[in-house]
Amino acid sequence: MKAPLFDKLIEYSKANLVFHMPGHKFGSIADLDQIDMTKLDNTEAMGMDNLYEAEGIIRQAMELMADFYGTKQTIFLTNGSTAGILTSILSICKEGDQLIVARNAHHSVWSALILAGVSPIYVSPEYIESEHIIGSISEETIEKAYKAYPKAKGVLVVSPTYEGIVSDIEAISRITHRYGGILIVDEAHGAHFVLEGDFPKSSIKLGADIVINSMHKTLPTLTQSALLHICSDRVNYDEVIQVLRMIQTSSPSYVMMGIMDYIRAYIQVHKEEIQRNYVNELVSFRKILNEELKQLKLISFDTERYDISKVIISTTHTNINGYELEELLNKNFNITVEAALNNYIILMTTIADQKMSLAKLKEALIRLDQMVEKQGTQKSINSFMKQKITLGNNPRRIFYSNKQCLHIKECLNRVSAKNIMLYPPGIPIIAIGEVFTKEDIILLNDFKEKIKGIKIIDNEIFLEVVQDETKVIRDNMK
Ligand SMILES: Cc1ncc(COP(=O)(O)O)c(C=O)c1O
Repeated sequence: MKAPLFDKLIEYSKANLVFHMPGHKFGSIADLDQIDMTKLDNTEAMGMDNLYEAEGIIRQAMELMADFYGTKQTIFLTNGSTAGILTSILSICKEGDQLIVARNAHHSVWSALILAGVSPIYVSPEYIESEHIIGSISEETIEKAYKAYPKAKGVLVVSPTYEGIVSDIEAISRITHRYGGILIVDEAHGAHFVLEGDFPKSSIKLGADIVINSMHKTLPTLTQSALLHICSDRVNYDEVIQVLRMIQTSSPSYVMMGIMDYIRAYIQVHKEEIQRNYVNELVSFRKILNEELKQLKLISFDTERYDISKVIISTTHTNINGYELEELLNKNFNITVEAALNNYIILMTTIADQKMSLAKLKEALIRLDQMVEKQGTQKSINSFMKQKITLGNNPRRIFYSNKQCLHIKECLNRVSAKNIMLYPPGIPIIAIGEVFTKEDIILLNDFKEKIKGIKIIDNEIFLEVVQDETKVIRDNMK
């Protein structure tokens, strides 16, 4: 029997200690690996309710989830936070609207802008130069954006970031509401903030109107399972469901919904055990790494603004880069990371990681630290983040414009017809409709092997640009 994907998946799950999504780490918590998932795989049969007209057991499970998170209403998503982002933008904006968008948003935001015909007003988070990572969005930036574009329908920010940095959502929501807007927080990486204690407060408690969580990223549920939380009366449940029905599959997975329900109940019952076996272990793991690492560095910030579940190891001042560290961990210790960038690696821990896996990771990092040497700083791929507030070209117009593919040398000042991305996490370095600058072209040349959305032919980069860009820019100003 030949089943290469199936065989590889089974082999991989046995051979690797993983610090990436999904958060259940091959079912290593809550006896997930003992559950026969085929028994959960069901449909809208009699008594099984319907996600889009929930009145029975799905409704009951979503209400329990809403109580757990402290929201007005919570809706199960079975196509990831991507479905939540598309749904929230399409339900609050109409064609021609403007939305203030954090420039470090996930690429699904641009899909939503294209579908909705909405123009982005880009706001940038800070770039933390010392660590080469993208930081939080300030309330001042949101205020400035609203002053310049007071008609903006709302704001979409990412908090926490992929690296775990949280913005001041309380202040941002105050400003957004003062201007009559709706605040959407992409909290895809913060489903576990519900554990409270050593984790930052969720945006749900800080005034956001819609919050989106990928349960599958930071809690032990199945890939694609996510939540859309409605947190205020500014958002209408029926309108949201109507859009979700258009965006998402008509056969939402009962396996995913059932496991989300089960894990919610599991956490409620085992809260103290989770604190003892995971959170306390994580805190002491971080303390030891902080003390022991001499060349590599565990990135840390004030815990109110930082998610300690993310283990970011910086290679900036060493003779190896993040990609090399990723490879060393894998080749020597069978440890696989969530992501590698030039200056650091990202490892995701969840409640499925306990004493043993954290100990193995700690030992591996301390051993590798002894092998690497100190060296000057390296270039950062994150330096694309520009500090400005701009009205972007309307992504839908660009999407439907005529395009041409040009050698990178001919692309200076041309309008990108595509999102050019770092993947993971899927943040556009150059977003659809943005103009290529000299710095962009240098960055693309430096990191071409790591970037998605470009063509490489004989080691030369080709980019898709808008053909009649003067027309596009003029149209956009109408
Ligand atoms: C910040 C952020 N938002 C949204 C998403 C999309 O989440 P999902 O994969 O659950 O659709 C991602 C995925 O990586 C992400 O990093």
